[in-house]
Amino acid sequence: MFIKSFGRSGLTLGSDRKMFPIHKCHQSKMMSKWKMFLFLLFVTGIAVFIRTYPRLSDGFQLQDVCACEKCLTEDNLLLHHGNTSVQPFLSMQYNLPEDVFNWWKRLQAEVRNFNTYKTAVARMFQMFPPSPDLIEQSPELCRSCAVVGNSGNLRRSHYGHLIDTHDVVIRMNGGRVEGFEKDVGTKTTHRVMYPESAIDLDDTSHLVLFPFKILDIEWLTGAFTTGFTGKSYMPVKTKIKANKYLVMVVNPAFMKYVHDQWLDNKGKYPSTGFMTFVLALHICDEVNVFGYGADTDGNWSHYWEKLKDKMLKTGVHSGHHEYDIIKQLAEKGKIQFFTGV
Ligand code: C5P
Repeated sequence: MFIKSFGRSGLTLGSDRKMFPIHKCHQSKMMSKWKMFLFLLFVTGIAVFIRTYPRLSDGFQLQDVCACEKCLTEDNLLLHHGNTSVQPFLSMQYNLPEDVFNWWKRLQAEVRNFNTYKTAVARMFQMFPPSPDLIEQSPELCRSCAVVGNSGNLRRSHYGHLIDTHDVVIRMNGGRVEGFEKDVGTKTTHRVMYPESAIDLDDTSHLVLFPFKILDIEWLTGAFTTGFTGKSYMPVKTKIKANKYLVMVVNPAFMKYVHDQWLDNKGKYPSTGFMTFVLALHICDEVNVFGYGADTDGNWSHYWEKLKDKMLKTGVHSGHHEYDIIKQLAEKGKIQFFTGV
């Protein structure tokens, strides 16, 4: 006995197509029911999985990259700024490309050549750690960082406690702590500096050197040993107190990357504060920014002192542009920007 069968294209008459005996048709119906059941089971499984792991559905990531509520790298923020593989710090194995050296030497009119640079770097690594002391990213860790600039808007801000809650607190140059704890906190895990802005550190803080010329690299070696005797455009500390095992030196290629990819080459070169901000985006999972912004006259005045030079403005740096970039990232919810009072 033959009946109508269901072909791929729907209901067909038995005479037109190949016919099935009735028990085979029954088997085929059972198979379809099983397939439907398995399909529904699969869809339910996926739905339950996505509800349980919401991050996976957002970013198609197999695993959380950090333990913060939101991790900076999940946003691919750095991918929008070109070369994410640029090494923020110099290490013993790293070789600076000569074209980058040629860009870097113009920042502060370096007259000495590439070989002299290489000799100074090699000597430096005889004394300091061959690679930077950084905390690796981990799904178990939330590396929260406070980047603290020196703006006068920190005065009476009462940000001190909030700043101290971060794992990493990065301060800059001569940014005072003593006497300003209520507004700026007490913790300093990192202090960025160059010879002309250097201050002594305690044994637990990282000294992060921004080298702008070969002399700065030589200064580091000298200031930690017999004393630096060279001359710069202003007096520099001949000796420095800091933990030599916590010294890190910023890579000139990173400075060029910030100038090219973040600032579209605006300004002569990026300010120490802006480079520190981008540095934080590279080494932290969460970045909160404090102490950036000129005063009402457009000067980069400091929270601990009365401005002496009313013509200071933002020096050779594109202060407004740098500020706008930080502000825009905050508006997009990538970072938090505390603009003070
Ligand atoms: O003045 P100083 O260079 O020590 O400040 C460190 C950084 O803080 C600057 O490079 C700048 O990026 C930022 N700054 C600021 N507004 C100020 C003072 C400093 O944004 N009023």
